[in-house]
Amino acid sequence: MAKKFVIIPLLLLPALLASCAEKQVYIVYFGEHSNGEKPLYEIEDTHHSYLLSVKFNEEEARASLLYSYKHSINGFAALLSSDEASKLSEMEEVVSVFESGQYYMHTTRSWKFVGLLPEEQTNKDEDLLSKASYGRQVIVGLLDGGVWPESHSFSDFGMEPIPKSWKGICQSGPAFNSSHCNRKLIGARYYIKGYEQRYGPLNTSEDYRSCRDRYGHGTHTASILGGRRVHNVSAMGGFARGTASGGAPLVRLAIYKVCWPIPKEDENICFDADMLAAIDDAIADGVHVLSISIGGDPKMYTRDGIAIGALHCLKNNIVVSCSAGNSGPDPSTSENLAPWIITVGASSIDRKFLAPVVLGNGQKIEGQTVTARKLEKKMYPLTYAANVIKQNVSKDVAGQCLPGSLSSKKVKGKIVLCMRGNGSRFGKGIEVKRAGGVGFILGNIPAGGAEIASDVHVLPATTVNHTDAIRILEYINSTQHPIATIIPAKTVPHTKPAPLMAAFSSRGPNVMDPNILKWLFQSVEKPDITAPGLNILAAWTGTKLEEDQRGGKYVFESGTSMACPHVAAAAALLKAIHPTWSSAAIKSALMTTASIVDNRGLPISDEFGNVATPFAYGSGHFRPTKAVDPGLVYDASYSDYLLYLCSLGSVKKIDPTFKCPKQPPTSINLNYPSLAVSKLNGTMSVKRTVTNVGGGRGKIFYFFTSQPPKGISVKASPSILVFDHVGQRKSFTITLEALSDKSLRKHGEYGFGWYKWTDPHALHVVRSPIAVSIA
Ligand SMILES: *[C@@H]1O[C@H](CO)[C@@H](O)[C@H](O)[C@H]1NC(C)=O
Ligand SMILES: *[C@@H]1O[C@H](CO)[C@@H](O)[C@H](O)[C@H]1NC(C)=O
Ligand SMILES: *[C@@H]1O[C@H](CO)[C@@H](O)[C@H](O)[C@H]1NC(C)=O
Ligand SMILES: *[C@@H]1O[C@H](CO)[C@@H](O)[C@H](O)[C@H]1NC(C)=O
Ligand SMILES: *[C@@H]1O[C@H](CO)[C@@H](O)[C@H](O)[C@H]1NC(C)=O
Ligand SMILES: *[C@@H]1O[C@H](CO)[C@@H](O)[C@H](O)[C@H]1NC(C)=O
Ligand SMILES: *[C@@H]1O[C@H](CO)[C@@H](O)[C@H](O)[C@H]1NC(C)=O
Ligand SMILES: *[C@@H]1O[C@H](CO)[C@@H](O)[C@H](O)[C@H]1NC(C)=O
Repeated sequence: MAKKFVIIPLLLLPALLASCAEKQVYIVYFGEHSNGEKPLYEIEDTHHSYLLSVKFNEEEARASLLYSYKHSINGFAALLSSDEASKLSEMEEVVSVFESGQYYMHTTRSWKFVGLLPEEQTNKDEDLLSKASYGRQVIVGLLDGGVWPESHSFSDFGMEPIPKSWKGICQSGPAFNSSHCNRKLIGARYYIKGYEQRYGPLNTSEDYRSCRDRYGHGTHTASILGGRRVHNVSAMGGFARGTASGGAPLVRLAIYKVCWPIPKEDENICFDADMLAAIDDAIADGVHVLSISIGGDPKMYTRDGIAIGALHCLKNNIVVSCSAGNSGPDPSTSENLAPWIITVGASSIDRKFLAPVVLGNGQKIEGQTVTARKLEKKMYPLTYAANVIKQNVSKDVAGQCLPGSLSSKKVKGKIVLCMRGNGSRFGKGIEVKRAGGVGFILGNIPAGGAEIASDVHVLPATTVNHTDAIRILEYINSTQHPIATIIPAKTVPHTKPAPLMAAFSSRGPNVMDPNILKWLFQSVEKPDITAPGLNILAAWTGTKLEEDQRGGKYVFESGTSMACPHVAAAAALLKAIHPTWSSAAIKSALMTTASIVDNRGLPISDEFGNVATPFAYGSGHFRPTKAVDPGLVYDASYSDYLLYLCSLGSVKKIDPTFKCPKQPPTSINLNYPSLAVSKLNGTMSVKRTVTNVGGGRGKIFYFFTSQPPKGISVKASPSILVFDHVGQRKSFTITLEALSDKSLRKHGEYGFGWYKWTDPHALHVVRSPIAVSIA
């Protein structure tokens, strides 16, 4: 297509250039509102007057204002030049000015992690659910891509009236009006100004300009969290047939749509300006828990909209659960690092979709798929893609079945082995089919380890791990006429080992830029916890994307996006049972009761078969039924987090009304349920305080034990804690000492262990992971 030239009258040019010059959306942040004294219009007027002071006139000021944050967050989002931004940042009362950053959903809606997965039966405990009344009084907000309200997962059949505390709305727009909200989906709002400022008006053939979900991510996460029980559902092809249910099936859902499609790209984007507006409303609307399966590159808290919004949530006693990101398995890739957020990694569950390959030599190789298409019960010729390429294809990518690379003459009627690497997994199947292949085996590259992405493909297919791909290659090499068949897939529950960390799940430690930010995250390891995120079956939209062969009302998705709402659901149930617990207490309960062993009773392993570490799973795999009764919690208040920010020197840019003590406690002493120390030099003491939340009468004793990291000694003083009533707090000091035998540990290398407090019959085991590196 020819490029279009737009002719601009010369006279207008300078003006246009001036007004377009590098303007961006900035957040101008004032901290928080002082106890709701001012009427809302006055707040907006105040914000406007700041804008007016840097703009030419009233009209320009009005036009540049995107949002005025009026409820908890005090600030506004506006289109500014960098000059205007820096002028504003110097004005009195302005706490900080930062660019409206961009974030992404933590699944690609496409092929990267698409696979299979089931509803999580192991975490459904009727006792816990009934004790929590299935979450019926709890309101959970989701920041995501909207919702498909017609899904059976959001039916309000038999539900009680909406809690009186709810103050939100059901915002109308195309394909969404107030009749789409009900007693389950109690709220819906959308935020698009930050997006449209960047990309121009939404292309309405790519998304709905309303809370309706186009791409499925929002519907999927909402139904994992709070979907009703829907019987006899399955993915296309009948996989994983059973009852779909959210973790908290009677919880009330409030949907805040903040993510929109990037034009011409297969991805959604979400902006600070929009997310802060959503969080500000969610706080005022009365949500109790917020689930955010969104992230971006780690930033200083002072410039991170999710971190700032979540701190406002914490102050309002709202629990915030976020996904850790899908940039694993490399270290230091974790996102959403702020200690007042629960950061969730992703792992597998105990179900596979086995579709083995049988080779001509009788070998049977384990493969997985959720492709319903089947081969006939007979052997077919088998070939490796690199052996059947067109002449002009580069040897480097020969085995990868990239579009247009296979020779139809050589492929016709065969099963083709293709390797992962470049190109989408789904696209490789399309290429084999295009070239006339009858079946498709996708082989893992070494970096994927044993993590099998079981996709829906356009022809009979299965996926094998790296060692098995090599075995198939060896067989192909060993014979003149290799043959094979793929046995149709079936769902196999109770597989072992599980959970297994997903290769994609982002990892700690929280070292971003070793020169600037290392100190910032020294005391806390991230992620905090892991939950199911590989091949999760949950609700989907009613639209069928052209390129999306999955379709159906329930589909499989993978990502930390899927793990985050699992933990948010658990937090909602804990809220129902313990309405007075702080956000930190709920987080502590989830973390200290998490499990570090799999269903074989062995340490949770990663996708390469190695023992996983707290940098992959934090405190371990969440166990909601244990978290209800944790015994002790590591509590922390809003001011504890501000003291932590004092120690980092960042309070001025977050809450300048807070007076830091002359000697703020060091960040390591933030009362966190885990412990991470980098570059331990000699000896270090760490202070912690636990609060007794256990039942029981009379005195209760807790005893200290630890499994120290190699080369470190770990001691507690006192090593016995005695409580005589609920709510009582006891402090203790942990002393870490690097043992002098340097052969035990290399400089900079992390070692892992744990410490725990246990009561006499081990009714309560309160475990904290330890990660230490030596200077
Ligand atoms: C909402 O939209 C539906 C169609 O999707 C329509 O039948 C209904 O009348 C609308 N309700 C309101 C209150 O506008
Ligand atoms: C809007 O999206 C449709 C479908 O992706 C595309 O064909 C069309 O070109 C887009 N319109 C604009 C103005 O970009
Ligand atoms: C479940 O659904 C399948 C396919 O829709 C149907 O064949 C089957 O009879 C249903 N089972 C039950 C128990 O309703
Ligand atoms: C190889 O040549 C064919 C035409 O014969 C063309 O369609 C294809 O794109 C070429 N592939 C590469 C990798 O150059
Ligand atoms: C993917 O393509 C890039 C650029 O063509 C190449 O450098 C890289 O080695 C390829 N990766 C694999 C796994 O083949
Ligand atoms: C690949 O799968 C086979 C089972 O088919 C298993 O024995 C092997 O350990 C797996 N390899 C890796 C790297 O996990
Ligand atoms: C198969 O044979 C090719 C050469 O024909 C060789 O490059 C390759 O390494 C062999 N692969 C295996 C797994 O034996
Ligand atoms: C460790 O501490 C000692 C004494 O305080 C100091 O001399 C040494 O330089 C420190 N080492 C490192 C690597 O920081």
